[in-house]
Amino acid sequence: MPKTLKIFSPATVANVACGFDVLGFALNHPGDEISIALSDGDAIVLHDKTPYSLPLLPEKNATAVALQAMLNALQSRQGFDITFLSKIMPGSGVGSSAASSAAGVFGANELLGRPFTRRQLVEFAMQGEKAASGSAHADNVAPALMGGFTLVRSYTPLDVIPIPSPPIFAAVVHPQIEVRTSDSRKILRQEVPIKKAVEQWGNVAGLVAGLFTNDYELISRSLHDVIVEPVRALLIPEFYAIKQAAIDAGALGCSISGSGPSIFALSRDEETAQKVAQAMRYGFDRVGIENHLFVSPINKEGVRVSE
Ligand code: HSE
Repeated sequence: MPKTLKIFSPATVANVACGFDVLGFALNHPGDEISIALSDGDAIVLHDKTPYSLPLLPEKNATAVALQAMLNALQSRQGFDITFLSKIMPGSGVGSSAASSAAGVFGANELLGRPFTRRQLVEFAMQGEKAASGSAHADNVAPALMGGFTLVRSYTPLDVIPIPSPPIFAAVVHPQIEVRTSDSRKILRQEVPIKKAVEQWGNVAGLVAGLFTNDYELISRSLHDVIVEPVRALLIPEFYAIKQAAIDAGALGCSISGSGPSIFALSRDEETAQKVAQAMRYGFDRVGIENHLFVSPINKEGVRVSE
């Protein structure tokens, strides 16, 4: 059995418009890269080679918190050395803390001879999310660990369902402003009018049905969020102009990626996704907001050993 592994853990888009806290999918890039090794001691020791000054106290670090949850379930006192080699920018809205949490539990699980399935690892990775954002949501960690689209049907008990999808490409534009998940959750209303709830669960069911049946028109009709997006859009300059530009360029739909500030759009093919990406980028460029662009098919594999 190897003693050191390099792990690549992908960025993810959570919510997918209508599915707040329940839907997500994985991207091919960007992602986190860590190296993880079994150590002779019983501590989780962290090293940071990224530019982000990551918290290195194990109880404050998403990777270590997730890994500790897994070790507790195994009643194991095995120690690990973990080095963060590269990292999705924190606060970007593409599952930075989820990628870190997934990388740790996946790498340790491989080194320990796979006592858990990928699906079982979701429960532990959620504890990393909780440490990072105050909320143990699974809609980023599930696709990071399992790949593809995933649905969190229930949290208690946790019930995560993989969702198949036709060929589909995501364009994600990440403005260089930070929106903390904890902040963008605090501004959400705690009650939902029944009329809005009906619209929203119609769209969630429609999106899942469209993904299962390869029905792009149904996917497109369902990519609407009438509950969370209207509140969070206020945190993202130019959001509605960029969304309209993405739709005009041929996207199936466009919304906020996770808790923002990134914006994502889905397209049927790569050529359209590239056009959509440029249209979205222009929305930030013209007001002088620096941004990064990613175009990726759906990553069906999820976190993996990279070396
Ligand atoms: N579902 C979570 C939220 C995802 O929207 O707050 C955070 O990335």
